[in-house]
Amino acid sequence: MAAEFHFKHKHILSLEDLTPDDVELILQTAESFKEISTRAIKKVPTLRGRTVVNLFFEPSTRTRLSFEIAAKRMSADTFNISASTSSAVKGESLVDTARNLEAMSPDLIIIRHASSGTPNLLTAHVNASVINAGDGTHEHPSQGLLDLFTVREAKGVIAGLKVAIIGDIAHSRVAHSDIIGFKKMGAEVTVSGPATMLPSYLEGMGATVCSDPREAVAGADVVMALRIQQERFHDPLIPSLREYATYFGVNRQLLKAAKPDALIMHPGPINRGVEIDPAVADGPYSVILDQVTNGVAVRMALLYLLMGGD
Ligand code: CP
Repeated sequence: MAAEFHFKHKHILSLEDLTPDDVELILQTAESFKEISTRAIKKVPTLRGRTVVNLFFEPSTRTRLSFEIAAKRMSADTFNISASTSSAVKGESLVDTARNLEAMSPDLIIIRHASSGTPNLLTAHVNASVINAGDGTHEHPSQGLLDLFTVREAKGVIAGLKVAIIGDIAHSRVAHSDIIGFKKMGAEVTVSGPATMLPSYLEGMGATVCSDPREAVAGADVVMALRIQQERFHDPLIPSLREYATYFGVNRQLLKAAKPDALIMHPGPINRGVEIDPAVADGPYSVILDQVTNGVAVRMALLYLLMGGD
C-alpha cells in the first residue's frame, strides 16, 4: 500500500491531519532507516545541504536529542535554540522570532512550546516545513508515531489490539496523539485516571473511559503509564502523589488484569514509584527504552518525507 503512496504533507502538526496510508508510509520509511543506527558509521548523505532548526521553548531530553541525532545521521545541518538562549527572554514575539529564522532560510523548523497551537501559528510566518514537537496539552505527533512503530515492532500488528492509557490524560499531549494514532490504525483504546484528569471529550475521540484502572487494563495488549503534568495546572487535582500511586500507579497488581505479555510503555520522563513501579518499568515486557531508540528512526523518516531526500 505505502510503497505506491506519496507523502503530500508539508508540516507535521497533528496526527488528525494524517490518513492511515500516511501513517503506514511513515512507519515503513522508519523501518528502512532503523538499520542505519546499528552501523559502525551511523551516517548517510540523504539530507546533505538541508538546514534543520530545533526551537525548544520547553525542556526536553528525548525529543530534542532524537530529532538532532536523526538530522545528523542524515547529514543535515542542525541548529538548536532554547527558550533561555533565544531573544524571547528579551521580549521578542514568536512571530518576530519566526520571521528572523525565515530570513536565514531553514528547510525545517521543529518547535516545542507550552502553548497549544503555536506550531500552526509558525506555519503562517515561515516557508520552512514545521514539525510539532509538543504544543501545550494539544499533541505530540512524533511521539504518537514512535509509539505506533514500537507496538507494531513488538506485536507485529496494531489493528485489533487493546491499548490502555493510565494517568493524567487531560494534560498529556502524548495521550491525545496516541488516542488519535491508535484509533486511526484500528486499535481499541481505553483510558483511566483520576476524574479530574479525564476530560469529557475523550469519548468523542473514540476512547473508552473507565474510572477504575483495573477495568481499563482488563485484557490489554499494551499498557501505557503517563506522568502527572504538574507544570500544566495550578490548583491541586489529586489529594497526594502517594494516593495517586496507590490507585493509578501501573504496578504488578494492576497488571494482573492485563494480558500476561502486555507491553509496558511510557513516553518519559518517568517518575518511578508514582505513575509506574520500577519493577514494571524495568521488567521483561517494558519497551520504554525501545520507544526512545525507535524515536530516532521515526524522526529520520519524518525529516526525509518532509525535506525530500536525494
Ligand atoms: N517523550 C518526550 O516528549 O520526552 P521529552 O520531554 O524528554 O522530549
